[in-house]
Amino acid sequence: MTTHPQIPPQDTDGPGPWWREAVLYQIYPRSFADSNGDGIGDLRGIISRLDHLRDGTPSSLGVDALWLSPFYPSPQADFGYDISDYQDVDPVYGTLADFDELVVEAHRRGLRVVVDLVMNHTSTEHPWFTESRSSRANPKRNWYIWADPAPDGGPPNNWLSAFEKCGPAWTLDPATGQYYLHSFTPGQPDLNWREPAVREAMRKVWRFWLDRGVDGFRADVAHRLLKDERLRDNPPELAPARRHVSVPGMRQRQLDLPEVHDVLRELREVLDSYPGLDGSLAEGRFVLGEVPISDDSRLADYFGGEGMHTVFHIAFWEQPWEGAAFRRTVDGLLAAMRPGSWPTYALATHDISRTVSRFGGWGPARAAAVIMLTLPGTPCVYYGEEIGMADAPPPAGLERDVDGRDGQRTPMQWDASGKGFGTGTPWLAPGPDAGRANVEAQRDDSESMLGLYRRLIRYRGGSAALRRGGYRSLDSSGDSYVYLRQAAGELLLVAVNFRHVPAQVEITGVDLPAAGRIELSTHAGRAGATVPLGPLALGPLEAVVVRLADGVPTDPGATAAPSKGPAA
Ligand code: GLC
Repeated sequence: MTTHPQIPPQDTDGPGPWWREAVLYQIYPRSFADSNGDGIGDLRGIISRLDHLRDGTPSSLGVDALWLSPFYPSPQADFGYDISDYQDVDPVYGTLADFDELVVEAHRRGLRVVVDLVMNHTSTEHPWFTESRSSRANPKRNWYIWADPAPDGGPPNNWLSAFEKCGPAWTLDPATGQYYLHSFTPGQPDLNWREPAVREAMRKVWRFWLDRGVDGFRADVAHRLLKDERLRDNPPELAPARRHVSVPGMRQRQLDLPEVHDVLRELREVLDSYPGLDGSLAEGRFVLGEVPISDDSRLADYFGGEGMHTVFHIAFWEQPWEGAAFRRTVDGLLAAMRPGSWPTYALATHDISRTVSRFGGWGPARAAAVIMLTLPGTPCVYYGEEIGMADAPPPAGLERDVDGRDGQRTPMQWDASGKGFGTGTPWLAPGPDAGRANVEAQRDDSESMLGLYRRLIRYRGGSAALRRGGYRSLDSSGDSYVYLRQAAGELLLVAVNFRHVPAQVEITGVDLPAAGRIELSTHAGRAGATVPLGPLALGPLEAVVVRLADGVPTDPGATAAPSKGPAA
């Protein structure tokens, strides 16, 4: 019997590819560290703060790779996700030389560098689009998606921009009398991936960054690259939907088309031809997809095969703070995944409200960190999550983002004064929680949020069970989420109490030992204690990692009745 019907353990004799073993860290360059006092973060600022991420000592966070949100030249209509030159650095963030230095400095510390690949659209200011819009006969006309107005002069079909404020996904270009498609802001025209010259041009972009030494890509909205060739209306049920494939068995006609996978396979082929940091193809480069669709069975097509290596799972972004919801979403994904697939988890991103704000404070955020860092999959920590930053939306009238995401993009809180970010007036004001949620205040406190993240990342690094072992969720009483992780000689139980009051958690349907040793807890003074497991006493919002067995290759499946099948 396997440890989990959906995810058998990886080979526990040796490590998997680096990106499976890694903890990722997302940097939003605009908001991480500002080296020149203009109020906007930049690449040199990032270089100056790399030691926070990994300096080889237990006092740094200890992550393994950075994912940098876009730093390319951009009019910033969508803060860098509108690119006007794929092969340069926006002067506000620095120069290509700064980027090269960042890669060298990161690699020197053992940190991989992953850059954002925004392939669905460019900026309207990209020279490709300037040419394309110049006339219907321009050779680059077909690089974008142009269509005649509907008979009433309106947009060619009923597709909507993903951003509510932007309305329809079409804007009329009066000069040539046609509409162009933009799945996001009107400043982000969608490329036409059916045009071979676009594919060729983008292959050059991939190679440009791979040649510069990046270790991988995060593929922005990878499911959107191709659209219905005939530009047919979405069916009425889906017409109001902006993002998701929201009706079972039905998909929006401008996203999640089967042809998308051809592009992703091409990308994969290029990636696979590049050796990794150690010079071998086996340790090569990787691509992590952003595929925000809520149907796990569709998501499963995007990774683990010939396409992308891994994708973000959106589960944690949409669910309530409930043990059953966490269990259902994790088990649902694992059940849907192809054998050998590997998910990536993030609690927050530049698009998603921060954990402290979404789940209601530091208590849930601490427990959520334990979950993310003990699940099978690659965890990705969004900057500032490790110090418990909350969303800090600007006051009305001072919003910068078109889609209400400023709150989760405020400057990294290095200290209470804000000067640690930079000396200028920051582009967004730091949060009112800066007095407590800052690196300086937490650095020397092992029980702080930062201390917890450091401990978790270090513990994960030393545990084959957590990094690549089997997973099986267990039935448990109350509002809790309990699971086993196992590798040869290592059997761990992770248990989380989702309530603000203490809980006696009964774990059923499995034959557990009478007691285990707490290795790590969100709560001070608990690590090292041997605790009875029937029931397991947990404090309010406590999450624990309990060692059940050392040295014995116990298969949780072998001692347990089969778990309930994961919910669909
Ligand atoms: C992705 C990015 C988001 C951006 C959008 C358009 O969802 O994460 O920030 O607005 O794509 O590029």
